[in-house]
Amino acid sequence: MSDHAAPFPLTAHASGALSGVATLPGDKSISHRALILGALAVGETRITGLLEGQDVLDTAAAMRAFGATVTRTGPGAWSVQGVGVGGLAEPEQVIDCGNSGTGVRLIMGAMATCPVTATFTGDASLNRRPMGRVTDPLALFGARAHGRAGGRLPMTLVGAADPVPVRYALPVPSAQVKSAVLLAGLNAPAETVVIEREPTRDHTERMLAGFGASLRVEDTPEGRAIILTGQPELRPQTVAVPRDPSSAAFPVCAALLVPGSDITVPGVSRNPTRDGLYVTLLEMGADIAFVNPRDEGGEPVADLRVRHTGTLKGVTTPPQRAASMIDEFPVLAVLAAFAEGETVMRGVRELRVKESDRIDAMARGLEACGVTVRETEDTLSVQGMGGEGTSGGVPGGATVESRLDHRIAMAFLVLGMAARAPVTVDDASPIATSFPSFEGLMTGLGATLSRAAG
Ligand code: S3P
Repeated sequence: MSDHAAPFPLTAHASGALSGVATLPGDKSISHRALILGALAVGETRITGLLEGQDVLDTAAAMRAFGATVTRTGPGAWSVQGVGVGGLAEPEQVIDCGNSGTGVRLIMGAMATCPVTATFTGDASLNRRPMGRVTDPLALFGARAHGRAGGRLPMTLVGAADPVPVRYALPVPSAQVKSAVLLAGLNAPAETVVIEREPTRDHTERMLAGFGASLRVEDTPEGRAIILTGQPELRPQTVAVPRDPSSAAFPVCAALLVPGSDITVPGVSRNPTRDGLYVTLLEMGADIAFVNPRDEGGEPVADLRVRHTGTLKGVTTPPQRAASMIDEFPVLAVLAAFAEGETVMRGVRELRVKESDRIDAMARGLEACGVTVRETEDTLSVQGMGGEGTSGGVPGGATVESRLDHRIAMAFLVLGMAARAPVTVDDASPIATSFPSFEGLMTGLGATLSRAAG
C-alpha cells in the first residue's frame, strides 16, 4: 500500500533573496480527517485541496480497505462514498500506514468500536512509535490490541462488538489521542467525554460538528471537556481543505533568514491551536503582516507577507505554547541558530516520540553545522550565532541525517539556504509524506537545491 520513494540526498546552498508567492499544499491534519469522516458518513463527501502526500494517500487506501469508495476526481479533488458510523468492513489485508502516526492512530480510533479486526503496520519510523497512548483508551471502549513489545506496530486491533462510552482525561497533550477517542466514541452509545488540560489542535471537533455530530465543549476544573453523543448519522459534506500552516513554516523561516527576501504565503491558518510559531516569530522581531483575514473550509486564515529585515532575537517558548507549534520546533531551532542570543524551547518532550526523536535529531544536526545546543528530556536550547556579517552566521558544511523525518529534512535544507557552506540532507525522500512540492516551491522562490551530494 505504502509506496515510498527511494532515498536520495539533497543539498541546500546559500541562497539569493527569496521572492514571489508560495502556494502551499493542503493541511495534512485536515486531509486525514476529511477522508476518515467522509468514510463514516452516509453518502458522498467531496473534498478539494486534499494534500496528496504519501501520509494522506496511505489513509485513503486504508479507508478503501475498510469498505469506503475513495476516488480521485482531479488534482486535490477526491470523492468518498461513506459506509456510515459503525459500518466499517473488515480489511482483507494488513493496513500499511507508512510514516503516518496521525493516520494509524485516527484509523484505530475509528475502527475500535466496530466489530472488525485489523492489523496495522508502517515504516521503520512508525513501527518505533508508541501506540499504547491510543490503545489504552480504546481498551476502555472494549477494543483489544495485540502488538509488539512496548505497544509498537505491527499490531492487531480487535474492535469492540458491544462498545461502552468512555470518559478519558488525556495524560499527554495529543490531538491524535483526543481524536482517536472521539472517533471511537462515534459508535458507542450515549456520551463519550475527552478532557484535555492543554488545548491541542481542534480540527476533529470542528469537522465532527460540520458532519452533523452532536458535540459540545465545556470548561471544567480538569480542563477542556469535549462531550460527544454517540451513534449519530453523519451527513456527507463538501470539504475545502485549507493550506497547511506547518508546511508554511519552511518558506516563512527561509525568507526570514535569507537577506533581501520578500515573499507572500496565501491562506495560512490562524487557528489558535496551530499558530504558536507565528506568535513566537513576532516575539523574535520578525516582519510578518497578516493580510486579508477570512474563513476557509471552517478555519480562520490570512495571507502572510514575510520580509527579511535583519537578525532576529532569541526567545523562550513557554510549555503551554508547545502544543500549538509542536511540528514547528525543528525549523524554529534552525531560525534560533541565526538569532542573537539563546532560544529556549520548554515543555517539548513530545518531540521525542515524533517521526524521529526530534530533540536529538536537531541537536546532533545543529552541532554538525557548528551550532551550540543544550538539551534536557523536555527542553531544547540553541545558542544563536547571529545572521549576518563575516563573523556572524552559521557555518553549515555538514551532511545531516533526516532519520525518516520530513520535518528534520526540510529544517536542515532551510539552514543550508542561509549558512556559510552548503548543507546536505542524507535522505530527502520523507519530504514527500507531507510536502511533495517542497523542492519545486523553494527553488521557484529562488533557493538553490541540488540533488547530487555536495
Ligand atoms: C497531529 C497531531 C500532532 C502532530 C501531528 C499531527 C494531528 O501529534 O504532531 O503532526 O493531525 O492530530 P500529537 O497529537 O501526537 O501531538
